[in-house]
Amino acid sequence: MSDAILTLSNVESAYGPVKAIRGVSLQVRKGEIATVLGANGAGKSTILKTVSGILDPRKGRIAFDGHDITARDPAHIVRLRLCHVPEGREVFPLLSVHDNLMMGAYTRADRDGVARDLETVLGYFPILKERARQPAGLLSGGQQQMLAISRALMADPRLILLDEPSLGLSPKLTKEIFEIVVRINRERGTTILLVEQNAQMALNAADHGYVLENGRIVMEDRCEVLREKDDIKEFYLGMKQAGVRAERRWKTKKNWR
Ligand SMILES: Nc1ncnc2c1ncn2[C@@H]1O[C@H](COP(=O)(O)OP(=O)(O)OP(=O)(O)O)[C@@H](O)[C@H]1O
Ligand SMILES: [Mg+2]
Repeated sequence: MSDAILTLSNVESAYGPVKAIRGVSLQVRKGEIATVLGANGAGKSTILKTVSGILDPRKGRIAFDGHDITARDPAHIVRLRLCHVPEGREVFPLLSVHDNLMMGAYTRADRDGVARDLETVLGYFPILKERARQPAGLLSGGQQQMLAISRALMADPRLILLDEPSLGLSPKLTKEIFEIVVRINRERGTTILLVEQNAQMALNAADHGYVLENGRIVMEDRCEVLREKDDIKEFYLGMKQAGVRAERRWKTKKNWR
């Protein structure tokens, strides 16, 4: 794929004897939102950790925008403007919201650009402006997720790796966060690789999807195609019961006539 910004070829990663991903190949096109769906323990976070350099792969290659980043250290990868928003946010709890945001920009020398991006992210998430002087540890889970995404944006990333932004959030807040993620992609042209258990939200937001089972990619397609596949509906969208209920309602109605 010529317009790929990120390419994983046959990547295998393990934690000691535990193989977590086995021969994963995937591509993310420049400017798109791609998603990896999978159950608990499928290996979603491991893919992101291996891309951002937190974990070295045992096999395979990873290329980002023409650079071989296989097993490079995380600081080098961040400098290429590839940012990871990890599962569980990992904001600095004792630092203020403002200082957390500025930590995201530590690799940048363009002070005007940093000031502009700060305005932009505070526009996406006004609550962070209100709380700018408070320690980040006092924010709610959803607000910490907003801060973690904003901190990544402060690095002016070309690719954001986003790990389960919906984790622990209410449906309403999840929807809000996803709307902003889509806006960031559309308005800034930032490419996003999103991993999610909330398949419904992810398939609606993303362009291209991969399904991961036990560390292997078992399916990939455009999201509008994946949304219509029976096994995706059944196993990831929980629609089997819904389908049966709908059929029953329809039959009952017919009997009334
Ligand atoms: N630090 C670790 N040490 C040992 N094994 C690990 C470690 N982290 C993950 N694993 C194992 O690797 C496999 C993949 O884990 P991973 O965290 O990538 O899954 P995931 O798809 O992100 O799951 P979840 O949806 O629960 O976040 C699992 O079997 C898990 O138990
Ligand atoms: Mg995970």
